[in-house]
Amino acid sequence: MTSNEIRSKFLEFFKEKGHKIIPSASLIPENDPSVLFTTAGMQQFKLYYTNPELAKRDFGVNNVATVQKCVRTGDIEEVGDNNHLTFFEMLGNFSFGGYGRKDAIEYAHEFITKEMGLKISYVTIFKGSQNIRRDDESEKIWQSLGVTNIREEGMEDLFWGPTGDSGPCGLTTEIYCKNASDEDVEIWNIVFNEYFSDGSREKLDKGEAKLTKLPVMGVDTGMGLERLVSVVQNKKSVYDTDLFDNEETKEKRIIVDHTRAITFMISDGVRPSNKGSGYVLRRLMRTVASYKNIDIEKLVEIIIEKLRKQYFELNKEWVVLEFKNERAAYEQAYNHTEAEISKHQGFTGYQAFNISSTLGTRISDIIEIAKKKGTVLSDKFKDEFEEASKKHQELSRTSSAGMFKGGLVDSGEESKKLHTATHLLNQALRIVLGEHVVQKGSNINAERLRFDFVHPRKLSEEEKDEVERIVNQKIDEGLPVGFVEMPRIEAEKIATHSFNEKYGDVVKVYSIGDETKGYFSREFCGGPHVSNTKELADNPNGAPKRFKIQKEEAVSAGVRRIKAILV
Ligand code: ALA
Repeated sequence: MTSNEIRSKFLEFFKEKGHKIIPSASLIPENDPSVLFTTAGMQQFKLYYTNPELAKRDFGVNNVATVQKCVRTGDIEEVGDNNHLTFFEMLGNFSFGGYGRKDAIEYAHEFITKEMGLKISYVTIFKGSQNIRRDDESEKIWQSLGVTNIREEGMEDLFWGPTGDSGPCGLTTEIYCKNASDEDVEIWNIVFNEYFSDGSREKLDKGEAKLTKLPVMGVDTGMGLERLVSVVQNKKSVYDTDLFDNEETKEKRIIVDHTRAITFMISDGVRPSNKGSGYVLRRLMRTVASYKNIDIEKLVEIIIEKLRKQYFELNKEWVVLEFKNERAAYEQAYNHTEAEISKHQGFTGYQAFNISSTLGTRISDIIEIAKKKGTVLSDKFKDEFEEASKKHQELSRTSSAGMFKGGLVDSGEESKKLHTATHLLNQALRIVLGEHVVQKGSNINAERLRFDFVHPRKLSEEEKDEVERIVNQKIDEGLPVGFVEMPRIEAEKIATHSFNEKYGDVVKVYSIGDETKGYFSREFCGGPHVSNTKELADNPNGAPKRFKIQKEEAVSAGVRRIKAILV
C-alpha cells in the first residue's frame, strides 16, 4: 500500500463512520498564539471541545477527521533515528460529544487490524494517579476486542495536553505495532478530552493549574502517518518508506527531515528571524546550510514532488530563495562570529550565547571556531550557555504573549485607530452575519488590522460591502469611545468578548457610542483606543480616510480572517 493510499483510506474510513473531512490547518496556529507551531490535529478544533454545540453548527455533524501537517521540535535530538521527525503528517479523528471511548477504540482497532491488516503488538492504558482513577473502561474495551497485551503507564506518558496556555486535555490509550527493525513503534494516540486545564502543561505538572471537567467528553486522536506507513510497508524506519528516498545515514536523515520542515514552514509564511517561529526556522535552515555540498533546489523539488497533490500551497521558489538568502547570511555571520570570538580572553558560555542569539550562529560552530583559534573556554562553558538560553526562551515566551494581548504590535496613533476600527468591524460583522461571530484573534500594526472570527463560510461581495458601509457610517457619526471597569459577571451581560482569552474578576469594557446616541459596540478590552471614531478619518493631506476590507479568507475550519486598512 502506498502512503497516498493510506491517507485516502483513513479519510474514507472515517467518512463512512459519519465524520466530516476537514482540510489541514496552517502550520502557524491561528487560534493558539501561545504556541509557535501546529503540533497536533486537535489544535484547530480547541474551541469545539469547550463549545460542542458549535460543531454541529459549523460542520453539520459532531465528528470530523483530518490529515494535519505538524511540526514538533521537542524531540529534535532524536531526529535521525528510525522514528523521529520534526515535520510529520498526523491522521486524526475527533469527536465533540458525538461518541466516547467505546467507538473511538473500536474504530481504531478496526482500522489498524482490518483496513491496514496489522497486528497490534500492545496497547497502553492509564494506571491511575492521585487525582484521576485508573482507566478500567478502556482496558475492558480492548479486552472485548481480543487485545490482551495491555501495559499501564502514568501521567507522563498517558495524559495528553493541553497545548499552549490552556485547553482541553485528558487520558489516552496508545497502540503500538512492530516495524521491520523489530521495534515497537507508537502508532496511534487516542485521547479522551474530559478536562479543561486553565494553565499550560508545565503548570499542570507543577500543580499550578486547575483541571475542571468539560461539559461533554471529547475524543482527539493522532496517528503519525510516516510511522504508520513504515509499519504497513514493513520497513525498518520512516526514512525507508515511499515518503522518503531510503535515507540511511543519520546525516542524510537530518537533512531531509529538516528540509521538509523548512519547506512547509516557508510555504505557510514563516520567515527566518531571531524570534519565535522564525528562530526555529532559522536554526533548522542553518543546520542544513552547514552541510555545504547539498543541492537544496533539487532536494526541495523531490520533497515537493512527493507531497504536491496533498499540499498545493508548497512553493519551491520561496523556499529556495529564502534558503539562498539564509545561506549567504550564515556565511556572513560565520565571519562575524570569528571576529567576535577574537575579542574575548576567557570565553564564557554567556558570551557564546550572546553571539549565537544575535548572529544566529550555531553553538557547535562557535565552539569549533573557538577551538580553531585556540580560544580558551571557561570551565562552566556548557552550563553557562544553557542557563542563558533558558532565560532567553522564557523571555521570548512572555514577549510573544505580550504582543498578542489586544492584538496590538505597538501603541502608536495609527495602531490605535485601527484598533478602534477593529471594534467597529467586529460589531458590523455581527450585524451583517449574525451573533455567532466571535473574535478568535486579532493582530494590528500601523498599516493594517487583521481580525479572525468564527463564521462557517466565505463572505459574499454584498456582505463585505455592507460591513464596510456600516463601519464608515459609524466613523462619520463621530461616536465617542471610552471605557469603564466593572465586575466580569456584570460585563458578560452587556459586552462581547473573545472565547479564547481568560479574564480577571474585574474587566475593562470599551464602548463606542454613549447613552444618548446609543451604544454601537461594547467589548471586553484593555485598550488603547482613540477617543472619537471621527479620528479614524483624519488625513491632514487629503480626503477623509475610509475603512476598506483588503482581503477575506479562511484560516481554519469555521474561522475566517479579514485584513483591512484605513485609506
Ligand atoms: N492530540 C494527540 C496527539 O497529538 C492525539 O498525540
